[in-house]
Amino acid sequence: PGGRRVFSGIQPTGVPHLGNYLGALENWVALQNEYPLVLYSIVDLHSITQPQDPAQLRSNILDMAASLLACGIDPERAILFQQSQVSEHAELSWILGCLTTMPRLRHLPQWKIKSKQKNEGSVGLFTYPVLQAADILLYKSTHVPVGEDQVQHLELALDIARSFNNRYGKTFPEPATLLSTTRKVKSLRDPTSKMSKSDPQTLATISITDSPDDIALKIRRAVTDFTSKVTYDPETRPGVSNLVMIHAAMAMISTEEAVLQARGMDTGEYKKLVTEAVVQRLTPIREEIERLRKDQAHLEGVLTQGTHKARELAAPVLREVRQRVGF
Ligand code: ADP
Ligand code: NA
Repeated sequence: PGGRRVFSGIQPTGVPHLGNYLGALENWVALQNEYPLVLYSIVDLHSITQPQDPAQLRSNILDMAASLLACGIDPERAILFQQSQVSEHAELSWILGCLTTMPRLRHLPQWKIKSKQKNEGSVGLFTYPVLQAADILLYKSTHVPVGEDQVQHLELALDIARSFNNRYGKTFPEPATLLSTTRKVKSLRDPTSKMSKSDPQTLATISITDSPDDIALKIRRAVTDFTSKVTYDPETRPGVSNLVMIHAAMAMISTEEAVLQARGMDTGEYKKLVTEAVVQRLTPIREEIERLRKDQAHLEGVLTQGTHKARELAAPVLREVRQRVGF
């Protein structure tokens, strides 16, 4: 074996927002053409670390599958599958958990934040990053695209790979982090924080299935500042700069070029230009999601096919792991 293998996962949170698209999914699409073996997993095992309604979860998984396909994930180039359908993830996670100390997990930021919010946390939430390590190592992945917020979890995966190799003999490659992008899409209502699905403000987040009218409304209401000229300076003018970044990313031009196109416009006029760029880029994606979502059998077929391919790769690795551990 050997060769370069990419693994990444995304929780089935329903339809992605613009931050997910520009911060992660666009890069996923690019990677499937650059690497010989690419796996993208809808990580439903991870999602039940928070309470989930079963019917909603099932629907969210299909929404995410349709969204990934509509954004350009090609099941011929990337193995797209549902994590829970490959039981090797859970089994490897148990084995790796036995190589991981509690203090090592206690200091990870996600645990600190999420367990504090709830005043308690489940064991599953605590060992969430171990399951992530299992996801990666199960395919002997060499490259893992993640956002900045996941870098410490990747370091854990690397530590766990080393621990396993030290104790049982060289088994796993040491996975390298591919920092997806430095592009951070900000909340339209509070441009000092990132666009996030958990933002309670209704106009703060653009979903990739938003209608043109919704997109126009949200951008029209986007918080800017008291200067009407359009410039790109994320430090001092986060609101306008967020719009410039979104415009540039959606029109696939540089931020300099975007500012040039805004010459002579005030921010109010510029918002119409940004809206146009977003609508133009998202319309075919939205239409494709709507089309795919009506054909549930097709979506399930794509995931089943992905599951078969993932299992074929996972089974021999887990067999090797079991044998090394002494089972
Ligand atoms: P959220 O923050 O809305 O809960 P997730 O944590 O599920 O989103 O993130 C899924 C992927 O999208 C990750 O790779 C993450 O880094 C990326 N991402 C999320 N929000 C943004 C954003 N506002 N800008 C850029 N990338 C983002
Ligand atoms: Na996040």
